[in-house]
Amino acid sequence: MKAVRVLEYGGQLVFNEVPTPSIARDEILVKIKNTAVNHLDLVEASGTARQILPIDMPWIPGHEFSGVVERIGSDVTACAPGDDVFGVSEIGGAYADYLAVKPAAIARKPSNLSFEEAASVPVASQTAWQGIFTHGHLEKGQTILIHGGAGAVGAYAVQLASHAGATVIATASSDDEAYLNSIGASRVIDYREAQFEKVLREKVDVVFDLIGGDTQKRSFLVLKEGGHLVATTQPVSQEETARHRVSGAMMRLAPSGDGLGSIARLLEEGTIRPDVATVYALQDAAQAWKDIAGNLSPSGPGAARRRSHGKIVLRVA
Ligand SMILES: NC(=O)c1ccc[n+]([C@@H]2O[C@H](COP(=O)([O-])OP(=O)(O)OC[C@H]3O[C@@H](n4cnc5c(N)ncnc54)[C@H](OP(=O)(O)O)[C@@H]3O)[C@@H](O)[C@H]2O)c1
Repeated sequence: MKAVRVLEYGGQLVFNEVPTPSIARDEILVKIKNTAVNHLDLVEASGTARQILPIDMPWIPGHEFSGVVERIGSDVTACAPGDDVFGVSEIGGAYADYLAVKPAAIARKPSNLSFEEAASVPVASQTAWQGIFTHGHLEKGQTILIHGGAGAVGAYAVQLASHAGATVIATASSDDEAYLNSIGASRVIDYREAQFEKVLREKVDVVFDLIGGDTQKRSFLVLKEGGHLVATTQPVSQEETARHRVSGAMMRLAPSGDGLGSIARLLEEGTIRPDVATVYALQDAAQAWKDIAGNLSPSGPGAARRRSHGKIVLRVA
C-alpha cells in the first residue's frame, strides 16, 4: 500500500510503498478514504515530546480517519465489510491506504457527511466534548469562555456549549466573529485587539483554554470562585488554582467509539457541523504540515493573521 512515513525523529515525510497491515482476530482493516492533520502529528514526529509521546520509527502519522471496512477479524461482530466508518487511532497510522484498528476506535460515519468532512471530526469534536463537559462540568445557564474559539476544537466547543444552554464567549480573530456568532457564540473578543480580562465585565464558570501561555495565566482573573479551567496545550499551575479557589488541569483526549457515536448523532440531526478548510492529496502531506506549523507560532495581541478556521484534510483514496 501507499503511505506517508517519518523515518526518524525530525525527518522529512516520505511517500512510498509499504506492507499492508495484517489484522488480529479482534481487529478491523479499514480502507482509508481521508485523514486529517493535527498539531499532535508534528509534535510526535519532531521527537520534542518523546518522553510522554513515544512512537516507533519508522512511523505513519494520522490519528483520525474516515473510510470503509475492508476486512474484519473472526472475533469482530460490531461491523461488517462495506460499512462506512470514522474513528481515531491513538498510535497513528492513518496517512496510508489501510489501517488496522480495534472496533472500539470507530463509529458509523454520519450519513449526511462526506468522507472528507467525517475525517475532520473525531479528534476535535471529542476533545471539545470532554473538555467542556467531562473536565469543565459545564451546565445549562452557565457561562464559558473559549480561547481559540474559531479553531478546530474551539468551533465544536462553541457549538456543543451553546446547544447545552450555556452562554458562550470566545476569543478569536475579528475575521472569525461572524462565523462564531453563526455557530452559537454570543460574544467574540478579538485577541489581537483586546485583553479579554480587561473587557469582560462578569466572571465566567468555565474557561476552555486551547492557547496556553499568557492567555492561560490571565484566565485566572476571569474565573468565578469554584470555576474550572480546562487546558489542552500545557499543564495548569496548581499554585494559581489554589490561590484563586478554582480547579484546573490539562486534559488529554480519551477517544472512544461510543463517544464518537454520540457525536455522529448530533451531526446527523444538524446540531453541530464540521468545518474543513483545505483538502490536500496524501502525497502533499508535507505542505499540509507547513500550513499547520505556521499556526503553531506564538500569537497574541498584535500578531499577524495566519489562516482562517477549519481543519486540514488529506485525500487518501
Ligand atoms: N490535549 C489534547 O488532548 C488535545 C487534543 C486536541 C488538540 N489539542 C491542542 O489544542 C490546541 C488547539 O487545537 P486546534 O486543533 O483547535 O487548533 P487550530 O485549529 O489551529 O486553532 C487554533 C485557533 O486559535 C486561534 N488563536 C491563535 N492565537 C490565539 C490567541 N492568542 N487567542 C485566541 N485565539 C487564538 C487561531 O486563530 P488565527 O486563525 O487567528 O491564528 C485558531 O483559530 C492545539 O495546541 C492542539 O495541539 C490538545
